[in-house]
Amino acid sequence: MIKAGIIGGSGYTGGELVRLLLNHPQVNIDFVYSTTRAGQPVTATHQDLLGLTDLKFSGEVNSGVDVVFLCLGHGNSTKFLAENSFDTHTKIIDLSNDFRLQKDAEYHKKTFIYGLPELNKEKIKTAAAIANPGCFATAIQLALLPLAKADVLQNDIHINAVTGSTGAGVGLSSTSHFSWRNNNASWYKPFTHQHLGEIGESLNSFGNKTAKLHFLPNRGNFTRGILATAYTRFEGSLNEAKKLYKEFYSDTIFTQLSEEPIHLKQVVNTNQCHVHLHKHEDILLITSAIDNLIKGASGQAVQNMNLMFDFFENTGLQLKAGVF
Ligand SMILES: NC(=O)c1ccc[n+]([C@@H]2O[C@H](COP(=O)([O-])OP(=O)(O)OC[C@H]3O[C@@H](n4cnc5c(N)ncnc54)[C@H](OP(=O)(O)O)[C@@H]3O)[C@@H](O)[C@H]2O)c1
Repeated sequence: MIKAGIIGGSGYTGGELVRLLLNHPQVNIDFVYSTTRAGQPVTATHQDLLGLTDLKFSGEVNSGVDVVFLCLGHGNSTKFLAENSFDTHTKIIDLSNDFRLQKDAEYHKKTFIYGLPELNKEKIKTAAAIANPGCFATAIQLALLPLAKADVLQNDIHINAVTGSTGAGVGLSSTSHFSWRNNNASWYKPFTHQHLGEIGESLNSFGNKTAKLHFLPNRGNFTRGILATAYTRFEGSLNEAKKLYKEFYSDTIFTQLSEEPIHLKQVVNTNQCHVHLHKHEDILLITSAIDNLIKGASGQAVQNMNLMFDFFENTGLQLKAGVF
């Protein structure tokens, strides 16, 4: 058994990690740190865990844990690590975007490896620190990586993706307020979303030139999940495209190529990414779907932990969607 600590315990990704790790046979949760709820039962905040744990939020960290998950907003992970130190053996998995870009990957003698297992599995296995990918970034990269590797992303790529309200975190804002979000839809940060940086670095990691990405993020009227569509010119046939995806994902357990058109509910509450391909004239349409809090955040963090500690990659992550 390894000991794990969670920082940012009252947030959405922190709560999702508690739920996943309570059901992980090789992990004991040592502490769930909270700046606002120290001493309170974790179940007072995460009521879905009632009867499953007696854990209380802690106002202190145990620096000797084997792994620590940072579930903090952007900028706060760097701040937290500057103010708190951990043993040299402690592995760090950060869910924010503080260390995702190559220019930010070196911090306090640790090199943060970009934690997308479909791209970096071997490096993740020996990493001391992981920069867990963004949720939109996960869905979009898994939709495009096989084409990037095959060097066929030479024409502009148009991406539209819609996310549930949990993508914005637990804090209330005008656009996450029920009265605004319910029965509503809107776009935000057109063509400038912060995940474009990490997506670009991954697509370019094969040494091939990638055309411009035009990314329009949307807010959806639901709580969980990301459905992303991307389209671009592709000269080959649909079967040739499928062959590229099947080869790229041949040894991955959490990304599946679907023959049927996909929808969100088939992946919500799972660590799966489902991908579908459609060809119309010379346009290839790629659709991908994930749960933003699981494959897009806490589940992928557990997947990375499993790889780092040489556990089976799917330990604690064999989750079923609730489709109906
Ligand atoms: N939500 C998603 O779908 C998603 C997906 C991928 C990545 N991410 C990233 O994961 C990180 C966490 O996201 P989230 O959705 O879980 O956010 P969240 O719901 O807003 O939770 C963040 C938690 O951090 C703690 N906190 C706030 N300010 C702090 C500070 N100054 N110092 C230390 N702790 C502080 C708070 O917990 P306490 O009050 O308990 O201390 C807060 O509940 C973010 O960087 C986000 O971008 C989120």
